[in-house]
Amino acid sequence: PSAVAVLTAAGSGARLGLGYPKALAELAACTLVGHAASRLSASGEITQIVVTAPAEHHGAVSEALSATPGVTVPWRVVEGGPSRQASVAAGLAELARTMDAGAPYDVVLVHDAARPLASAALVSRVVAAVREGAGAVVPGLPVTDTIKSVAVSADGPERVTGTVDRSVLRAVQTPQGFAWDLLLRAHAAGADRAQDESTAATDDSSLVEALGEAVHVVPGEAAALKITTTYDLAVAGLLLAEAVA
Ligand code: CTP
Ligand code: MG
Repeated sequence: PSAVAVLTAAGSGARLGLGYPKALAELAACTLVGHAASRLSASGEITQIVVTAPAEHHGAVSEALSATPGVTVPWRVVEGGPSRQASVAAGLAELARTMDAGAPYDVVLVHDAARPLASAALVSRVVAAVREGAGAVVPGLPVTDTIKSVAVSADGPERVTGTVDRSVLRAVQTPQGFAWDLLLRAHAAGADRAQDESTAATDDSSLVEALGEAVHVVPGEAAALKITTTYDLAVAGLLLAEAVA
């Protein structure tokens, strides 16, 4: 049995605003997609990586991966879709198409190039939890801010409608890990949502939840922060400079 990974890199990175995909942004002379793929490789758990890329940046993403010495696991690039969910589905289809019936996958991870510093140890923790019998595993961190619900109004200030009990909230990260058959089933069941960002699932575990199947949480890590804005990119740069990621 082998663990395989879909690494999503097909977004446009509009909020980062570089004018090219976020996955190609650089952090300490390595692209975000290169960082993420090297850490997947370094875990020693993953036998192949399918990377999703925007159609017009297929070549650039391939070059970025070729140029990253730490990417030691076999990888290939496929075209993403109109939403993250659609891109993951494209990656899964490629993995399914090329699976050797004599050596099926047991575990599939889905990871975002937007979380370049998620550690090899976190990758291993997620794979181990799936192999211990959890069908679906997400890294999660406690929420530290006080969280309010609000009534949003078009013409006035937002009004607080309540304070949420944060002790039962978790901010979830990637890599998320799944039993191979379960994730295929979850994506098939949710496929009608994938074509539009407004209906698509923002992570894979929510598709498993929609099936009524259990999703387990393992401890996440601060270093697995998601790069959305230039602020996040600066924080990630500092973490690398301080050697804490
Ligand atoms: N992603 C993808 N295919 C899409 C949209 C997103 O593979 N159609 C990937 C991104 O490349 C990223 C992850 O999903 O690794 C999380 O998405 P997000 O942080 O929203 O990245 P972008 O969509 O690139 O950024 P933005 O929303 O600011 O444009
Ligand atoms: Mg996006």
